[in-house]
Amino acid sequence: MERVSTEARSGTITIEQVDAAATFPLRAQELRQGRPPEMDGDDAPYALHLAARIDGDSIVGVVRFHPRDCPWRPGEGSWQLRGMATDPRVRGLGAGRALVAEGLARVAARGGDLVWCDARKDAVGFYQRIGFSIVTEEYDLRPVGPHRGMLIELPIR
Ligand SMILES: CC(C)(COP(=O)(O)OP(=O)(O)OC[C@H]1O[C@@H](n2cnc3c(N)ncnc32)[C@H](O)[C@@H]1OP(=O)(O)O)[C@@H](O)C(=O)NCCC(=O)NCCS
Repeated sequence: MERVSTEARSGTITIEQVDAAATFPLRAQELRQGRPPEMDGDDAPYALHLAARIDGDSIVGVVRFHPRDCPWRPGEGSWQLRGMATDPRVRGLGAGRALVAEGLARVAARGGDLVWCDARKDAVGFYQRIGFSIVTEEYDLRPVGPHRGMLIELPIR
């Protein structure tokens, strides 16, 4: 499987495509406490699961992209970003940014022209930092809590 690497302050971040199951431990730990780590559509043909490693070590970041209409922008070519998490021990080192950047490139290569997400309130600053825009007021998604709708148009210029 093709891997993409980035030199980080802490070492080399490698992003690769993985099976959904490889993302479950980090999802369970950081996103889905008390809920099954599986999400609808994990095994859909176009679901793209990415994992980050630093210096080839164990997985420290995960994310999923899959084609899904954007609730706030009608039209085709929209993909949803879900299941985004990094290990607390590596936060701020660039693994989250590298995961999303690689995902956006792969989505664009598959013809996608927009990526959207339900951004948890605490993560809105992260998505803004990497180029997403806020497009909604705050809304509640149970059981997690407040979110904002965010999106980014592709390709990134
Ligand atoms: C949100 C999350 C994925 C960010 O991952 P990360 O590995 O820390 O991200 P990066 O190190 O690549 O950060 C990229 C940039 O965003 C900034 N950033 C990261 N998290 C941020 C936040 N919550 N608010 C504001 N800025 C943030 C970083 O400082 C970095 O800035 P820089 O460009 O100046 O270096 C991670 O904190 C996480 O897993 N949180 C818990 C789960 C979660 O909320 N997931 C999102 C669900 S919608």
